[in-house]
Parts: sequence; C-alpha cells; structure tokens
Amino acid sequence: MRPVAVLGATGSIGRQALEVAAEVGAEIAALAARRGSDELLALAAAHRDARVAIAAPSAEERGRWAALGSRVTFGAEAVAALAGEPGLTVINGVVGVAGLPASVAALLAGNRLALANKESLVAGGPVIAAVMGTGGSEIVPVDSEHSALYQLLSGRDRAGVRRVVLTASGGPFRGMSAPEVAAATPDQALRHPTWRMGPRITIDSATLMNKALEVIEAHHLFGYPYDAIDVVVHPQSVVHAVVELTDGALLAHFGEADMRIPLRFALTYPGRGTRRGDPFPLAGTTLTFEAPDFDVFPALRLGYEAGRAGGSAPAVLNAADEIAVQAFLAGRIGFASIPVVVERTLHDVAVRQVTSVDEVFAVDAEGRAVATSHLGNSC
Ligand SMILES: NC(=O)c1ccc[n+]([C@@H]2O[C@H](COP(=O)([O-])OP(=O)(O)OC[C@H]3O[C@@H](n4cnc5c(N)ncnc54)[C@H](OP(=O)(O)O)[C@@H]3O)[C@@H](O)[C@H]2O)c1
Repeated sequence: MRPVAVLGATGSIGRQALEVAAEVGAEIAALAARRGSDELLALAAAHRDARVAIAAPSAEERGRWAALGSRVTFGAEAVAALAGEPGLTVINGVVGVAGLPASVAALLAGNRLALANKESLVAGGPVIAAVMGTGGSEIVPVDSEHSALYQLLSGRDRAGVRRVVLTASGGPFRGMSAPEVAAATPDQALRHPTWRMGPRITIDSATLMNKALEVIEAHHLFGYPYDAIDVVVHPQSVVHAVVELTDGALLAHFGEADMRIPLRFALTYPGRGTRRGDPFPLAGTTLTFEAPDFDVFPALRLGYEAGRAGGSAPAVLNAADEIAVQAFLAGRIGFASIPVVVERTLHDVAVRQVTSVDEVFAVDAEGRAVATSHLGNSC
C-alpha cells in the first residue's frame, strides 16, 4: 500500500482518514491543514515521520511550529507541494476550492488522488480533466455516492448504462413546505439526520446544494451527460447510488452511512479492507425513495443549470454558495436566501472557459464578490 498524505487532516474527512489509515496499516507520509492548531500539533507528534504543511498559519503559530524545523512548511504552495510528492495516495479532505491546486499537483505527480474535496471537480472540472491520468495518476472518489458509482461502474460497458442515480438523504427539512423551510435556523440546519460532517457540507445537505455539487462531480468523474444523472431522495442513507442498465436491471450500492467505508476503499483498492463488527442488519432495514422537491429546494435545479452551462458557471455556483452559507451561519441572511444569492450571482457573472487553476481562482473571486454584493438585498 502506498504511503498516504492527508490534506485537511484536522477536519471530519481527515480525522476519519487517519483512523482508516491506522486500521489498514498505511504509513502517514504527510499532513496538511489550514491553521497550525493544537490538533494538528498533536497529529504531528503522533506521526513523527510525516511532513507537515500549514496553508495559512498566524504569526504566533509560525513561531510555535518553527521548533519542528524543515519538517514543516507554510503557505498554500506548501500543501500542493506535499500532494505532488510522487508515490503517494493523496487524500484530499480540504474544504473549498482551496483544495484544487493540491488535486492538480497529486495528479501531475502520478499519484492516486482519493478525492473528498468535491470543489476540485465542481469548480475545476476542465482543469482536472486536462491532467487526469498523467504518469498513471487516478482519482478514486471518496464522496460516498461517487465511491458507490465507481464500484458499480468499474469494468462496465458504458453502452449498457441507461442512467446513474445519486441518492440524497433529503436533509433535516425533507417534506417541509417552503414557508417552514424559509424559517429554518442555523442550529436546525446543522442537525443532519444521518451524516456527521463539517459545517459547510451540512448546510449544503439541508439546501440540497450538496447534491447539486455532486451531480456536477459525477458528470466530471464518469462522463455521463446531465440528462443521464438523476437524484432520488432516500432518507435512510443506506443505498448510496444506483445504476440503471439498458436492459431494465438496477444495480445498487448499499452500506452504512459511514465515511470510513469509502475511505477504506480508496486506500485499499483494488484490494478490500476489513470492516470489523457485525454484518450489516439487512433484515429489518426499510428503504424508501422519493422524488426531490425542486420547488422547495431550488439549489438542485441551479446545480443542473450551472452544470449544463459549463465553463465557469459551476465555479460561480460553488463560490456564491460558500458566501451565502457563511452569511446564513452568521445570521446575516435567512435559509431561503441561500439559493436566491446563488441564482442572482449566476445570472450576473458571464460564463467563460476555465483552463487553469489561476482562471478558476479568478472566477471564484468574482463569484464571491458578486455574491457578497447580493447579501444585503436578499433577506
Ligand atoms: N465530512 C464528510 O463526511 C464529507 C463527505 C463527503 C465529502 N466531503 C467533502 O470533503 C471536504 C472536506 O469536508 P469536511 O467535512 O471534512 O470539512 P471540515 O470538517 O470543515 O474540515 C476541513 C479541513 O480542511 C482544512 N483546510 C481548510 N482550508 C484549507 C486550506 N486552504 N489548505 C489546507 N487545508 C485547509 C481544515 O484545516 P483547519 O482545521 O486548520 O481549518 C480542515 O482540516 C469537502 O469538500 C466536503 O464537501 C466531506
């Protein structure tokens, strides 16, 4: 098994990745996070041979970390440099478009990219496509639905696939009316029924923006047109994805709502790790499926529209959503204003091609600025 670099080591994905790496006996070659927090310091102490990159340390943190000498490097470029060391499996659990340079560096170095950072593909899909496969590099998705699709589609003739279906838990507001959802508070939106995740993705799950981003991610990973990528609400979060074949057969991927399962797959593929504990309790498990409500959750429609527009539009969608989610969590806008801000921003920013990381960052900055200008008049 290749040594592992864990980017976003102090986050929800990063912590679980470290747990799985220990379980499967993978060596930790590198750790990265945004800040030089006490948690990162403890990880650096636990993994004495691992190099550490800190993207945005405070002056005080730089001083504190200097004691570790050349093991530690600072700045966004340092994170990408670690990902670009050849011979690694790079787990990208960074949140946001900041994860894109590391994804590109990992692929250019011929590494396996175990990709949780969906923004790399959503905002930088064409940039990733241009470097995917360099030197034998590959992406093994970590997002549970995409890990499921990867496993369902591996070795399958594309001509036999009618459509792929991503499941959505529906979030905490499933089944509610538009006025009920509009009154949602950050506390309510942060209570995800089935998954424990970082704050942005948890709010995105409540608006269904997370599923919108995942539709775009699936398009880039597997190359299916948007008409052949569907979403179904499945509150139990047991089935992660379904592939419908042209002959009428449906293949589903089942499993607990536990990110350690796709992480274990990404580290051990093409082998299989071992999950301890009892077998999955299939008997007694009820599965239900329902159509998503595009009226109450317009973010999903916006995701399809941005995906079909292509070019810079998905990067703008992502940037505007990040701004709107931050504003919602800070109490500046209401829950129903999140998709309003995103839609107005998409309307205002002209679609253009993006072919480099710098162009993606420029679009991201523009999307953020325009979204910020809409915060005041969207509540
Ligand atoms: N959580 C899940 O179950 C889950 C499932 C599927 C997909 N994902 C995706 O995985 C990614 C991470 O999600 P999460 O829930 O783990 O987020 P999270 O808990 O908020 O953690 C984010 C991590 O990224 C680090 N980070 C932030 N900005 C960075 C930068 N510029 N450079 C390097 N590191 C940076 C943070 O470091 P600090 O702690 O120092 O700020 C932290 O370690 C997201 O793209 C999300 O959509 C997550």
